Amino acid sequence: MAPIDPHSFTDSSHPLTTHVSLSLYLDFNASTIHASALLSLSSPFSGNLSLDSRSISIKSILDPQTLIPLHFSVSPSPDPIKGSEVVVVLAGQSQILILYSTSPSASALQWLSPLQTFSKTHPYVYTQCQAIHARSIFPCQDTPAARIRYDVVMNIPSPLSAVMSACHVRRRLPVLEEAKHLDALSSVVWCAEDRVVEEFAMEQPIPPYLFAFAVGELGFREVGPRTRVYAESAAGEVLDAAALEFAGTEEMIKQGEKLFGDYEWERFDLLVLPPSFPYGGMENPRMVFLTPTVIKGDATGAQVVAHELAHSWTGNLITNINNEHFWLNEGFTTYAERRIVEVVQGADIATLNMGIGWRGLNDEMERFKDNLEFTKLKNKQEGVDPDDVYSQVPYEKGFQFVLRIERQVGRTAFDEFLKKYIATFKFKSIDTDTFLDFLKANIPGIEKEINLQLWTEGVGIPEDAYEPVSAIYTKIISLAEEFKQGKMPSEDEVAEWKGQEWELYLENLPKSCEPSQVVALDKRYRLAESKDYEVKVSFLKLAISSKCKGYHGEVEKTLKSVGRMLYLRTLFTALAQTGGTEEKQLAKQIFAEARETYHPIAQGVVESILSKYI
Ligand code: BES
Ligand code: ZN
Repeated sequence: MAPIDPHSFTDSSHPLTTHVSLSLYLDFNASTIHASALLSLSSPFSGNLSLDSRSISIKSILDPQTLIPLHFSVSPSPDPIKGSEVVVVLAGQSQILILYSTSPSASALQWLSPLQTFSKTHPYVYTQCQAIHARSIFPCQDTPAARIRYDVVMNIPSPLSAVMSACHVRRRLPVLEEAKHLDALSSVVWCAEDRVVEEFAMEQPIPPYLFAFAVGELGFREVGPRTRVYAESAAGEVLDAAALEFAGTEEMIKQGEKLFGDYEWERFDLLVLPPSFPYGGMENPRMVFLTPTVIKGDATGAQVVAHELAHSWTGNLITNINNEHFWLNEGFTTYAERRIVEVVQGADIATLNMGIGWRGLNDEMERFKDNLEFTKLKNKQEGVDPDDVYSQVPYEKGFQFVLRIERQVGRTAFDEFLKKYIATFKFKSIDTDTFLDFLKANIPGIEKEINLQLWTEGVGIPEDAYEPVSAIYTKIISLAEEFKQGKMPSEDEVAEWKGQEWELYLENLPKSCEPSQVVALDKRYRLAESKDYEVKVSFLKLAISSKCKGYHGEVEKTLKSVGRMLYLRTLFTALAQTGGTEEKQLAKQIFAEARETYHPIAQGVVESILSKYI
């Protein structure tokens, strides 16, 4: 038994899954999916095949040719990180058929009641599988080392529609025949009058963490030749605002193709989720998922789309082999994102983003000062929950490393290298050494110019990292410095500032300031009430750590209206870590009241923050 991934029970000596066929019956009343999964392996296998699962109840596993049950066992107590190992005894089969149901607490799924949606009349469900949650939707070898193609038959209530990270094949009425593998379910239920079936197929092989769907009362607007934006159809204003915000998407795809090679996924649709979506964006292929908080009519919406689009090359085409090499995904993507932003929004905005990233990276060094392992690009994650150590390090130190190479060889040579790297490893999952070997082979002598080992295996920020410079960046940093001497920026100085400028300014203020000065800043510029969540949250963090108790109401309101983990992490950490008894109590109370509105992954992350400090 040799694991290939610290977060998976998959064994390196077993054949990997190449295809999954899912039949899913979504029961919104019970927040449960009754399902069958037909797994096809790369070759026939005899022996004990290991799969990952989490809170899944398996009824039987069959040989699909003979329908004879196969022996299987599920580990009696789940591993707190990896979940439950499923072992199936095979005798030369290359396919297995698993009949099972998910749990209402499945970590990848958030089931929203009608009241939690915009329309207030229909329920909604969506997935978030990265990093290791696909296993709570279907038993699988849940490691990015295994690339799968898939098809799905999804039975849903007829007022709703479904979208997936896959090609939509058709919407049709259910057929009696199809219910036979869902033995808990009668064909009458499958074919009930108020049900409809949506079919999808994903023909490009993807790592399981890119499996995604959402089901609700959805509508869309066309925004480009290969792009629609989807959201709840009742949220007409959201759809209209999103269509405007993302109007430049086709231009970004074209720029991406110029820089990195063909766009291989045909469609690039966008789905704007309800406010509880735990991330800013998620690069699900063909259907990127976005938080509604990015729609605010400035450059940030396009920045998040540029990031998720960039993953179409770095991450989705070339994938990290496991989470210990996550920087290969996010570091390259952050670099690629900034290249796209530079072309479509200009170098100043790209530099501003670099500056926000640089500040974030430096702050992470403080967060991990007692756990230096997570300041390394390549790090050990045995026994570590990837959601707990999620940080800016793979993004921003990864970005710095890629930029360091670019600066060494020059743009022209680096662009050529990048295209070749992507073309060479597309649809593969690789590790850091594979990248370094390719780098050394294609840029001979690079290891003499850059300390590659220090960058990939060393702790902290290497000396030859690059702090961005631009007029606006330098100006904002010096204004933030002046705040320490009691000087507030003037109306003139901030006249042109949008969200990103304010964010950079606030993030560069001392962690804790004189309370009266913080209140005065807000009185003048109304930051706590900003519609821009980055600004609002940066300000509230400062207010909490500066002991300005008057903002507790706004903090509570914010934590009860959005579920993006970036904001939850920031505000709950500020309350629990820097706050006194009153703030700690407030954190506990807010979490108790808001918990059910958060995605299960976010619930877990907040729980671990509170248990660390309270
Ligand atoms: N793939 C990530 C989101 C993610 C990472 C989900 C790890 C689960 C585990 C996505 O591409 C991302 O980085 N999103 C950022 C957006 C940003 C950098 C523009 C986010 O959500 O903040
Ligand atoms: Zn990303």
